Amino acid sequence: MNEIIRRIMEEAKSRAEAASSLEEAEALRIKFLGKKGELTDVLKSMKDMAPEERKSFGQAANEAKGIIEEMINERRAFFKDMQKKAELAAQTIDVTEPGKVTPLGTKHLISITIDEITRVFRSMGFSVSEGPEVETVFNNFDALNAGPNHPARDITDTFYITDDVLLRTQTSSVQVRTLQSQKPPIAIIAPGRCFRCDTPDATHSPMFHQVEGLVVDEGITMADLKGVLDSFAKQMFGSDTKTKFRPHHFPFTEPSAEMDVSCFKCGGKGCRICKGSGWIEILGCGMVHPNVLKVGGIDTEKYTGFAFGMGVERIAMLKYEVDDIRLLYENDIRFIQQFR
Ligand code: DAH
Repeated sequence: MNEIIRRIMEEAKSRAEAASSLEEAEALRIKFLGKKGELTDVLKSMKDMAPEERKSFGQAANEAKGIIEEMINERRAFFKDMQKKAELAAQTIDVTEPGKVTPLGTKHLISITIDEITRVFRSMGFSVSEGPEVETVFNNFDALNAGPNHPARDITDTFYITDDVLLRTQTSSVQVRTLQSQKPPIAIIAPGRCFRCDTPDATHSPMFHQVEGLVVDEGITMADLKGVLDSFAKQMFGSDTKTKFRPHHFPFTEPSAEMDVSCFKCGGKGCRICKGSGWIEILGCGMVHPNVLKVGGIDTEKYTGFAFGMGVERIAMLKYEVDDIRLLYENDIRFIQQFR
C-alpha cells in the first residue's frame, strides 16, 4: 500500500482512538474524508500518475476510505451510546419519593342537603326528575294555574328573558313537564336551581334551590300527602319529629298547606332556631289542582295527586345552623369544609 495512504490511515486510527467526544469524532470525518480532507487531497493527486499506478493507488485509497469511515462511525456510535446511557441515568425515577398531595374538594352543603332529601324520597319509591332553569312562562305560571294577574309574574319579582321565556322562579315547573311526559302512577322529586329578583341579604338570594315533589295516581288523598311528608320529616330531622299542617294558599294546589316540624334543636320548648315557637316551617304542599292535571291531559275523574316544594337553603341553614345565606355562595373553603 502506498506510503502516504498508510500514513494517513495510521494517523486516522490513532486520532479516532484518541477522540474523547462525539464532536471530536465527527470532526475527524471532515479532517480525513471531507472535501478538503487529507485523503481527498491524495485522491486528487492521482491525475498526474501513470495509468497502471493510478489503478492500484485508486483501489488502495478507496479501501482506506472505507476503513477510516468505519473507524470514525464506530467511535461516533460509542459516544452516542454513552450519551444515551448518561441521559437515562439522569432520568431515573425514584419510586420511593413521597408524592405531591393534591388537596381534595369537599361536597357543598347544598349538595349534601339535596342528597339527604333525595335519599329519603328514593327510599319511599320516588324517582328523580330534572327540568331546565330557563323555562317558558307557560310552564312556570300559566300551566300552574297562576292567572295573568298573579303577583309573582311581576317583572320586579321574576327574571324575564323574553315575553315568553324566564329563569324559573320555582321547581314547580317540573310538575308540568312531568305531567305532560309521564302517565300515572307518578312519584317524582325534582331538585334544582330557581331565580327571583331579590336583593341579597342574610336570608335572601336571587339564586336558590328547591326540591319539588309530585305524586299522581288513582285514589291519592290528603292522608297520603300527610303520611309521606311526616315520614320524610322523621327521616330528615329525627324520629321524634312531629309535624303540623296549616292551611295556606298556592294557585296549583287545592287545598293547600304549609308543613311545620317540631323544632329539632329544642324539641319544641322554644329556642333561637324556632324563634321561641317550638315549630319550624319546612315546606308548602297540597292536592294538585285539577286545572294543573288537565294541562297534562290527565283524567281528573280517575286520578288525583299531591305536590310539595321545599327550599333547600332554608333546610340546610336550619339543620346546620348557618345564619347567613350568603355564606353558601361565597365558596370560602374554610366554611365548606366544616360539613364534611
Ligand atoms: N312553588 C312553591 C314556592 O316556590 C312551593 C310549593 C308549594 C310547591 C306547594 C308545591 C306545593 O309543589 O304544592 O313557594
